[in-house]
Amino acid sequence: MTQIFAHRGYSAAYAENTMSAFLAAEKAGADGLELDVQLTRDGEAVVIHDEKLDRTTSGSGFVKDHSYKEIRLFNANKKSTKKEPIPSLTEVLEWLKTTKLICNIELKNGIFPYEGMEEKVIGLVQKYDLSDRIIISSFNHYSIVNCVRMAPEIETAPLFLESIYMPWIYSQSIRAKGIHPKHSTITDDLITATMENGIAVRPYTVNREVDMRRLFKINCSAFITDDPAKAVKIKKKYEKRP
Ligand code: G3P
Ligand code: CA
Repeated sequence: MTQIFAHRGYSAAYAENTMSAFLAAEKAGADGLELDVQLTRDGEAVVIHDEKLDRTTSGSGFVKDHSYKEIRLFNANKKSTKKEPIPSLTEVLEWLKTTKLICNIELKNGIFPYEGMEEKVIGLVQKYDLSDRIIISSFNHYSIVNCVRMAPEIETAPLFLESIYMPWIYSQSIRAKGIHPKHSTITDDLITATMENGIAVRPYTVNREVDMRRLFKINCSAFITDDPAKAVKIKKKYEKRP
């Protein structure tokens, strides 16, 4: 049955990419998390979507220009007085280990090709012995190839903004086991054909009921949503069917 991945955690109700959002996603019954990783000036992997701190935190400027120690001073729950730090990937994986969740780590190395990012992330995944519960994705497909070369045991999935011809051929050519397409760019037939060719399909970001239903109906491998609670509720109706 289609798995539900919480996009930046339960970001429809909690500050994105925070421990609160991840904990709430688990509580809501998500099968997995999706999170974004950037690197600090001193090479720490931190969980934040944008290259800049400004939109989601009390800080400003680029993540890459701050040390990890500086980064930890900012509030990742900008809209609230209840302060939450920007999580380190270490912190998330340490907690993940105590759960059964799958985790899709998106390497945000499309704009800044952070040197050493793949090594850092793979090193942590291996340290916490989580290789069988992690999927590494990126819009930077050269980085996906680097990851496959470094750690073929960890699943990878290229991200797509646009439709491509026979995505399973492309995916197989870079030895990725899945694809993460923008949901509105992929048809039911293309999803089914990709899955029949042994490649998992996890469209993003699926928030409308009608879009969730279409993916449950064709038993798509998974989808990525801001609202895992809503997805879990809808999924129940499909599980009951013979
Ligand atoms: O991983 C799917 C999705 O998160 C990719 O886009 O911009 O939300 O990171 P974005
Ligand atoms: Ca993402």
